[in-house]
Amino acid sequence: MYSDKVIDHFNNPRNMGEISDADGIGKVGNKVCGDVMYIYIKVKDDRIADIKFKTMGCAAAIATSSIITELAKGKTLDEAMKITKKDVSDSLEGLPPIKQHCSNLAADGLHKAIEDYRGKR
Ligand code: FES
Repeated sequence: MYSDKVIDHFNNPRNMGEISDADGIGKVGNKVCGDVMYIYIKVKDDRIADIKFKTMGCAAAIATSSIITELAKGKTLDEAMKITKKDVSDSLEGLPPIKQHCSNLAADGLHKAIEDYRGKR
């Protein structure tokens, strides 16, 4: 049901953890499945210098969190705002239809972290 890429990112999540002095934090959740995701970013010169995540959720939620950290790292904030849920799911070689909302969480979490950072300035 899951692609090899999803299984790889679930088994070996990249950039998992918390940034204690994060510049922006995005928290998102899904009421139906109960999953919760936090995305932490450090910003330098308008770019995502560091990014980590903490996710309490399903295998797809963990894999989408992991891949979005790879997609966003080093990007400018404007570029990162343009990362879509489709980019997330395409980068994981697709997600089962019932798991598409998990990729929404990751994209929304990243965008919220950027908005949080921008709101604080
Ligand atoms: Fe809800 Fe995956 S089942 S985020």
